[in-house]
Amino acid sequence: MCIFCILGIAIFLWLLHIYMTGGVCKIKKNLSGKVVFITGANTGIGKETALQLGTMGATIVIACRDTIKGQAVLDELNKLTKAFMIKLDLSCLNSVKQSVEDFKKLNIPQIDILINNAGVMAPQTYKTTKQSYELQFGTNHLGHFLLTELLVPYLKVAQQSRLVNVASLAHKHSKLDFQDINCSQYANSKLWPIKYNLQAYGNSKLCNILHAMEVSKRHGIKGCSLHPGVVRTELVREIVGNPILNIVFKLVTPIYFIFTKSCLQGAQTTLQCALEDYDKLVDGGYYSDCKIKQPLFANKQLAEKLWEFSTEKLKPYLQK
Ligand SMILES: NC(=O)c1ccc[n+]([C@@H]2O[C@H](COP(=O)([O-])OP(=O)(O)OC[C@H]3O[C@@H](n4cnc5c(N)ncnc54)[C@H](OP(=O)(O)O)[C@@H]3O)[C@@H](O)[C@H]2O)c1
Repeated sequence: MCIFCILGIAIFLWLLHIYMTGGVCKIKKNLSGKVVFITGANTGIGKETALQLGTMGATIVIACRDTIKGQAVLDELNKLTKAFMIKLDLSCLNSVKQSVEDFKKLNIPQIDILINNAGVMAPQTYKTTKQSYELQFGTNHLGHFLLTELLVPYLKVAQQSRLVNVASLAHKHSKLDFQDINCSQYANSKLWPIKYNLQAYGNSKLCNILHAMEVSKRHGIKGCSLHPGVVRTELVREIVGNPILNIVFKLVTPIYFIFTKSCLQGAQTTLQCALEDYDKLVDGGYYSDCKIKQPLFANKQLAEKLWEFSTEKLKPYLQK
């Protein structure tokens, strides 16, 4: 192949990479006096989001399951701003309650921006939370739903507070079935690692979108959700834990790089939702590449149904 062809392909792939990683949040604000509460900020997209908002002077509360990893981020944040860490395991509803008790002890009066970022994807085998919900639904949606409900009093104290749910384009794989919210009919299926866990992940991410759509109606707090893009994070840790999938993953890594974002690039749409002027932020809106987009399957009736379903399931944890 001639040198010009190789050069042409290289330039094309580089331009394709730039296009795929697009969507830059251009908003910069002085956030001193504002409080940001963010889950899953010990790594990945959440860590970058916390650092960027910390640079703008917000007080940052990171809620992490692995607090050893969290401490390293807290140390970085403390060089930028006032920051705190609380322990949170979203796969255990008692831990969610305890984390809010721990937050109360910080004597922080309000939360301006709540970012529900933590997430788990595609466990190799069917797994459940402490309270026996399918792991992805229980962690990504129910844990965050309970956390949000318990933090509502703090969001109401702040003027123009907002909820930002990190969802995913993977919501297009969802088949939300309230009769079998835990996808238990697929638990023993040989297709679980290939097909149904992606469906369960999609369900949990559709729930993130629906939750953000309904929160304003229920609490008067603006909610939005987003797809961060395909980002090179630890989210695929379960997938690469499988020896065969690991080999496939290694083989496609150079191509994967072209089509994926760094963590900082992946944090851009979260930052857009967190920083957008309050009046411009679309209530219940779903964002991707820093722009408003139309999600699939999401509608007001479903959002209402999910809200009622979730509050019913969480009744014992919502009572004081
Ligand atoms: N990466 C992508 O391409 C992509 C695409 C679309 C959407 N997303 C969404 O982006 C968000 C951030 O993910 P990421 O890509 O940054 O992945 P990541 O690097 O794996 O980060 C996920 C975070 O969630 C935390 N987490 C997982 N289970 C938890 C639990 N039970 N309790 C508390 N925290 C828990 C992890 O904490 P530990 O370290 O303690 O496990 C980690 O901090 C997720 O909601 C994900 O669904 C990512």
